[in-house]
Amino acid sequence: MIIQPRVRGFICLTSHPEGTAEHVKQQVAYVKSKGKIENGPKKVLVIGASTGFGLASRITAAFGSDAATIGVFFEKPAAPGKPGTAGWYNSAAFEQQATEAGLYAKSINGDAFSDEVKKQAIALIKQDLGQVDLVVYSLASPRRTHPKTGVAHASVLKPISQPFTNKTVDFHAGVISDISIQPVESEDDIDNTIAVMGGEDWKFWIEELKAANVLADGVKTVAYSYIGPELTYPIYRNGTIGKAKDDLEATVPVLNDLLADLNGVSYVSVNKALVTQSSSAIPVVPLYISLLYKVMKEKGIHEGTIEQIQRLFAERLYTGAAPALDDKGRIRVDDLEMREDVQAEVAKLWEKATTENLEEISDIAGYRDEFFHLFGFNFSNVDYEADTNEVVEVPSIK
Ligand code: NAD
Ligand code: NA
Repeated sequence: MIIQPRVRGFICLTSHPEGTAEHVKQQVAYVKSKGKIENGPKKVLVIGASTGFGLASRITAAFGSDAATIGVFFEKPAAPGKPGTAGWYNSAAFEQQATEAGLYAKSINGDAFSDEVKKQAIALIKQDLGQVDLVVYSLASPRRTHPKTGVAHASVLKPISQPFTNKTVDFHAGVISDISIQPVESEDDIDNTIAVMGGEDWKFWIEELKAANVLADGVKTVAYSYIGPELTYPIYRNGTIGKAKDDLEATVPVLNDLLADLNGVSYVSVNKALVTQSSSAIPVVPLYISLLYKVMKEKGIHEGTIEQIQRLFAERLYTGAAPALDDKGRIRVDDLEMREDVQAEVAKLWEKATTENLEEISDIAGYRDEFFHLFGFNFSNVDYEADTNEVVEVPSIK
């Protein structure tokens, strides 16, 4: 079928198999261009491996240090006449490119929050790898069914004590408007968001992997967090999602205790704001990202997900020494985003931004382009008028 983008709000309903493969190929090429990561990971489990930071982690491990990877994700395969999700196609392309390079790559498509998928991952590690030396936890989800209680938790993106009003952008239309978001109505909103995006499931994974003896001596585990500028604090870091990130970060010492007898260590890495399927759903953030991209590109310090994660592995996690941590014990690869000169310029542009000057003062065009790239569109070397086979297998998934 001929596959064109079909956009509804902040999501794109279609994805392109050749375009997503091109996106994966470019990320692989970037990692290779940076050279081998000495003493990088060798056997890696990535939870949330199909898009965004998790996919970048899988690509960096595989092509940066020849790692065997098992990827866990929740995606929809294609059916005749209906394209699969971007993460499905990304994973198909990744497995194909990894296998061609002689690297082991297998995937599990299912609910990572469930006990069953954890058991499947353990069985696959036992069967093929014995143990893993790195576990990347990179889930972003709007909901989680708790494996012990059966309760279905839905996360919310809300401020906590008072309404928040600020600018936001409809990045497709290029229109800036004011948005007011009402605060949580009860503690339940906070608790549910923590249940979905906090650290409990990461802990369950590590507990179960350890109990099954599939974690190698010296194992590392890393999860991803975000802080961002003060202007997004009410909706992000001081909002419901920020409480979940506090909880995720507070899980680090718990996991360090759990991993001590394996000489293992856990980290949270605070990453840069980037266009992903998850971040485009957060009000206010896309406008911030388009201004940030403009400033960082002008200064020559812009990074995408693959640049961020390659740097995390090469310059933080696998240098041979313990990484520098901030006063809250976190790795920071948002250092360039948070630089004072960058933030001062973004803040100035934020005050000025209107629908009329948006194209000129922001990188809204770059935002849009990257958004379409997530779904395999807007690549100049892909023919979007051509008939393409929408049914693509992820080789390891039967
Ligand atoms: P993403 O939406 O691109 O990736 C989410 C991944 O989780 C996908 O692989 C998806 O298949 C998987 N997933 C979701 N629900 C699942 C389930 N129930 N079972 C199995 N897999 C499931 O998101 P992302 O932006 O890469 O976010 C990953 C992490 O990075 C999150 O913790 C996020 O908060 C953090 N982070 C994001 C940004 C940003 O700007 N995007 C910045 C800093 C940190
Ligand atoms: Na991810």
